[in-house]
Amino acid sequence: MELDRRLKRVLFEEGEIRRRIGELGAEITADYRGKLGEMVKTRPPLAVGLLRGAVIFLADLVRAIDLPLEYDFITVSSYGNAASPGELRLLKDLVDPVEGQDLLIVEDIVDTGRTLNFVQKKLRARGPKTLRTCCLIDKVARREVEVELDYVGFQLEKDEFLVGYGLDYAGLYRNLPYIAALRPDVLEG
Ligand code: PRP
Repeated sequence: MELDRRLKRVLFEEGEIRRRIGELGAEITADYRGKLGEMVKTRPPLAVGLLRGAVIFLADLVRAIDLPLEYDFITVSSYGNAASPGELRLLKDLVDPVEGQDLLIVEDIVDTGRTLNFVQKKLRARGPKTLRTCCLIDKVARREVEVELDYVGFQLEKDEFLVGYGLDYAGLYRNLPYIAALRPDVLEG
């Protein structure tokens, strides 16, 4: 396989991502059938994906969860840039009220933690029965804000700019089936 010239190396191959999502799905299924089983009987849990990055992860994850389940999406937007993060706001909200429902936030990557912290606070304020979070990649080295993560696909210590499998650089590379690191000079230039 020939890599795009702006990509440095592949971190997670398609098969490795698929295998790990299978494990996450099995873990989530067991948890919601067990501890949360009674709740599931009354109203199906709702998987909440964050647009746009989490679309691909959510699509694969929900198919690895063997339970009745609903899903919906929210969009969070930030004024500002990476160097000076601005205020976050909800650009697109969930369609239905979620009071009393079991919520599972599905996020592709947790970096500073600002986005997820904002979403967790917003959703918690709506009185869900339970609120859990599943992220594919936890970039621990970049964390600035405390967040609760219940299910983590891969933990990364190294701070590299990642693309693929929903993650973008300038809107591109989201459709790569694998996750790769961008060459540092691409960001500098
Ligand atoms: C990315 C990613 C997370 C967020 C993580 O989204 O999908 O939502 O950044 O960063 P943080 O932990 O520092 O808040 P982005 O804003 O790039 O939008 P996208 O989902 O449309 O790619």
